[in-house]
Amino acid sequence: MKAKIKTYYFSPTGGTLKVLRSFAEPLAMLLHADVEYHSYTLPQEREALPVFDKDDIVVWATPVYAGRVPNKTIDFVRQALHGAGNPSVAIATFGNRAYDNTLAELVGAMRDGGMRPVGAAAVVTRHVFSDTLGAGRPNACDLECLDDFAVQMAGSILAAQRGPVPELIVPGEAHPEKYYTPLKTNNAPAGFLKAKPSCDIHRCTRCGRCKDVCPMGSIGDRDGVPSFDGTCIKCQACRLECPAGAIAFTDPEYLSHVEMIERTFAEPKRSKFFTLIKRKKE
Ligand SMILES: Cc1cc2nc3c(=O)[nH]c(=O)nc-3n(C[C@H](O)[C@H](O)[C@H](O)COP(=O)(O)O)c2cc1C
Ligand code: SF4
Ligand code: SF4
Repeated sequence: MKAKIKTYYFSPTGGTLKVLRSFAEPLAMLLHADVEYHSYTLPQEREALPVFDKDDIVVWATPVYAGRVPNKTIDFVRQALHGAGNPSVAIATFGNRAYDNTLAELVGAMRDGGMRPVGAAAVVTRHVFSDTLGAGRPNACDLECLDDFAVQMAGSILAAQRGPVPELIVPGEAHPEKYYTPLKTNNAPAGFLKAKPSCDIHRCTRCGRCKDVCPMGSIGDRDGVPSFDGTCIKCQACRLECPAGAIAFTDPEYLSHVEMIERTFAEPKRSKFFTLIKRKKE
């Protein structure tokens, strides 16, 4: 029977899915495996938990939010990652600031759930808050590295299917207490937790697309115009999906944070890849 790679992703604006595909497609070719893509981005996609067969290879991809797995998804991620020693690969995408504890948290959840993590990648993507941070990422160099990573992972997955493999080591804390505190240009904490987007009713064509892409199911409508009623995680899906450019975030604390990260983290960072380290013979 053909091996199966089951991939899961949270990707409100598509950057994480792009990275995941660029890794999973060459991996599937190398392993002669079928690949399935499962989104858990929308609320209805998180209603049922995945079921893994013992032979499934699992690839899990998430964006970095405030240095960790997005907090509104972490309960689902922890409940979903249940296996019986399945080889698994963790992928985090980040907007050129930092991935902090995200890989450690995701790899930790895999381990806690009985999977066997064999590799992890933190890949730079466009920062959805900004037009400049991480612009054009993943670039050709990132994609080439993802190809190489797929070759290494194919080897590690085959090794894990044959017997014990060394423990995967990634930086950060598996059970961190805090999230990254966003700062303003004056280095004071930026308090935009409650900020929500707004809609320019003169531009809005009442197409309803923003409502369909909200991962929190938080967009209602008043006479066809979106109303931002519920929790907003600032994912930017509604703003970037709007064909009329009618949605914006105008909260001054949020805008100051965006200015701060654009100034401070302009220098392009490298994507990072973590593979199994061979133990030295004693
Ligand atoms: C609420 C929020 C918090 C974020 N926090 C970070 C961060 O701590 N570090 C970072 O480098 N990028 C951060 N980003 C940028 C995202 O990780 C990046 O844009 C990611 O590719 C978005 O994934 P998507 O395109 O699949 O939605 C954040 C984005 C959002 C929306
Ligand atoms: S309302 Fe907030 S959570 Fe919903 S899509 Fe827009 S930015 Fe994302
Ligand atoms: S996507 Fe834009 S144009 Fe369409 S309903 Fe939403 S705000 Fe209006």
